[in-house]
Amino acid sequence: MALINRQITLASRPVGFPKVSDFELVFSPIPSLADGEVLVRAIYLSLDPGLRQRMNDAGSDAGTVGIGEVLSGGTVAFVMNSLDPAFRAGDTVEGVLGWQEFAVIPGRELRKIDPTLAPISTALGVLGVPGLAAFFGLLDIADPQPGETVVVSGAAGAVGMIAGQIAKIKGCRVVGVTASDAHSSWLLEELGFDAAINCRTVADCGGSLQELCPAGIDVYFDNEGGTVTDAVMRVLNPRARISVYGQNSQDNLEEPETGPRWLGQLIVNQATVQGFLVSKFATRFPEGLDQLNTWLKQGKLKYREDVALGIEAAPQAFIGMLRGNSRGKQLVRLSEL
Ligand SMILES: NC(=O)c1ccc[n+]([C@@H]2O[C@H](COP(=O)([O-])OP(=O)(O)OC[C@H]3O[C@@H](n4cnc5c(N)ncnc54)[C@H](OP(=O)(O)O)[C@@H]3O)[C@@H](O)[C@H]2O)c1
Repeated sequence: MALINRQITLASRPVGFPKVSDFELVFSPIPSLADGEVLVRAIYLSLDPGLRQRMNDAGSDAGTVGIGEVLSGGTVAFVMNSLDPAFRAGDTVEGVLGWQEFAVIPGRELRKIDPTLAPISTALGVLGVPGLAAFFGLLDIADPQPGETVVVSGAAGAVGMIAGQIAKIKGCRVVGVTASDAHSSWLLEELGFDAAINCRTVADCGGSLQELCPAGIDVYFDNEGGTVTDAVMRVLNPRARISVYGQNSQDNLEEPETGPRWLGQLIVNQATVQGFLVSKFATRFPEGLDQLNTWLKQGKLKYREDVALGIEAAPQAFIGMLRGNSRGKQLVRLSEL
C-alpha cells in the first residue's frame, strides 16, 4: 500500500502570537528516490522559537517559510530506504526534515546518530543545537570564572537549562529568569540553580535581581531580551560579559518595543555584548558534543523534554511554547521506532 505523508504547512502569516488556523494539515504522496537520496520516517520533531520569525514575510537569517510550504524543523528519523551508500535501512539520523512524517532527502544533509550513546531525542536538545549553543555561547563568548554570578534568561528553555547548569559546573553562582513560578521551582529543586525568579509576576524585576545577585552580575546569557534585559543592565558589574542568543520576548510583538536606553551601562562598566549564531561554532561541534556527552554520563547535566504526541498536536504545542508553557526542550513524537 502506498504511504501517505502528513505535513503541516503555513496557511497564513501570523499577526502577533500564531493561532491554530495559521497552520494546515495536508496529505501528500511520497516522492520516489533518486541516486544519493534517502527515504526517512520522522520519529521526533523539534519545535523551535526561531521558526516564529521565519513565518513572517521578512523572515530571519534562516530564511522565510512561504504560504503553503511545510514548516521548518529539525527531526530525528529512521531510514526506511537509501540510495546513498553512506546510509542503510534501520539507521537513525538527524536532519532538517520539517513538520512532516516522511521525507526524501539527500543523504549529505543527514547526520547519523548512535542510538546506544543516549536517548535519540537528545540529538535535538542537550546533544544538539540547543546544547551546543549553551556550551559555546556561555564558555567561549562569556568566559565565566569560578565565583562569578551568571544570570540566564529563558532559563527553563532548551538552551537556558543547559547554559545554567554549565555555569554551575564552572563554579559560578547561577540565577535563572523564567516565565513561570513552576519553572523557577524546577530550576531550584532539580537543576541546582542558586536562585530563580519569574519576572512576569514581580513588581520590580531589577530590584529583585539586585537582591538575588548581591555581588552584582558578571555574566548574562540572554534568550529573552525586553524588560528582563533592561533589568539586568541595572545590576551589571565592571567588565561584565553578555552573550545574546535569543530574544523570545520580542518574537510575537505586533509593534517593536522601545525600552530604556541602557548602552550607557556598557560604558561605565566597560562591559561587552556579543550576539551569536550557533553556526559560528560549526567546526567545533564535535568538541562540544563530546564534553556535553561526558557531563551527561557523569550526571552533571540534567535535561527535560516536553513531548506532544502526533503531528496534529504540533501547532498547539508550538503556540504553547511561544507563550512560555513548555519546560525544557519542546518536541513532538511523530512515530514509534
Ligand atoms: N542565535 C541563534 O543561532 C539561534 C538559533 C535558534 C534559536 N535562537 C533563539 O534562542 C532562544 C532560546 O531558544 P530555545 O530553543 O532554548 O527556546 P526555549 O527557551 O526552549 O523557548 C521556550 C521557553 O522560552 C521562554 N519564553 C517563551 N516565550 C516567552 C516570552 N514571550 N517571553 C519570555 N520568555 C518566553 C519560556 O521559558 P522560561 O520559563 O525559561 O522563560 C519557554 O519555556 C530563542 O529566542 C530562539 O529564538 C537563536
